[in-house]
Amino acid sequence: MPYAKIIGSGAYLPTRVVSNDELAADLATRNIETSDTWIVERTGIRQRHIADPGVTTSQLATKAAQAALENAGVAAADLDLIIVATSTPDFVFPSTACLVQANLGAKGGAAFDVQAVCSGFVYALATADAFIQAGRAKTALVIGAEVFSSILDWNDRSTCVLFGDGAGAVVLQASEEPGILAAQLNADGSQMKILCAAGNVAHGKVVGDPFLRMDGQAVFKLAVTSLTKSALDVCEQAGVRFEDIDWLVPHQANVRIINFLGRRLNIADDKVVITVDSHANTSAASVPLAYDAARRDGRIKTGDTVLMQGVGGGFTWGSVLVKI
Ligand code: ACO
Repeated sequence: MPYAKIIGSGAYLPTRVVSNDELAADLATRNIETSDTWIVERTGIRQRHIADPGVTTSQLATKAAQAALENAGVAAADLDLIIVATSTPDFVFPSTACLVQANLGAKGGAAFDVQAVCSGFVYALATADAFIQAGRAKTALVIGAEVFSSILDWNDRSTCVLFGDGAGAVVLQASEEPGILAAQLNADGSQMKILCAAGNVAHGKVVGDPFLRMDGQAVFKLAVTSLTKSALDVCEQAGVRFEDIDWLVPHQANVRIINFLGRRLNIADDKVVITVDSHANTSAASVPLAYDAARRDGRIKTGDTVLMQGVGGGFTWGSVLVKI
């Protein structure tokens, strides 16, 4: 059975950077109080990239995909599978993956979206791995992309300071050499209320509440517990000793969650990739953005064992263990 090997990655962030001070000044115009100090102390976030009005998830995803294809040395025509993980699709349908396929000038392969919120990239990666192992795809593009700024309530300081926009992508190819070693995905739908955007459009009208709502402390507790167990389970499944992991690339929600997780797993700080300070939480885009940053600056190298982890609304969580 072939492995699914990551042969390239790419990223795209909107050019507009909004610092905590700038965001605090904007909120102050609506009598909403926040500060750089509060945001940094509670979350580690210093800035976020925000897409201009009208910019869509498929546009960000296409740019990240082009960078990943170039890095992999793969032509769009060779892709037989495109999966986009997103909770902010351009349309109800067609899927964002179909829009990306058209933008890339690819045709004929399978293309679909995966919706698992901040766990979306890990879910999509595990799905592409299963396709490749089963012989149903040879060259896959997996993207995490979001315009999360479009579902934020900019009058709710407890959520609007936490998120940003962006896209990250990887190219996977069937290979005899080890690539994805193990994956495990989980969900607990009974926890849907602690993190949701429970609105939709029906009969031409918005029904429910279209904005993201969150019980931050409940999310914090569940994220730490579920990711710890998932990390240990995926290593056991792969027969990899935890101490042999070179890099942890966790979902970038909050530096306190990441530090807490690192301590529970006994992983040294310099083995954990952190981008939440400059990207904020980009939901499904956060793991591929962090992976791409660490690969491009030379931290993650060929031969490294990397543990990627996602956690988010649903409630969903999961891990993918990869030999690069
Ligand atoms: N600026 C200033 N004050 C604020 C802000 C803000 N932006 N937001 C909330 N506060 C206030 C609250 O109103 C509250 O005031 P009060 O004591 O007068 O009532 C006070 O700060 C404390 O609020 P808490 O919600 O208790 O703050 P907490 O210490 O829990 O920190 C946070 C909030 C950062 C969201 C935290 O709960 C957390 O890290 N949760 C993890 C969830 C997370 O990171 N989610 C990201 C998305 S989920 C995901 O990606 C998995």
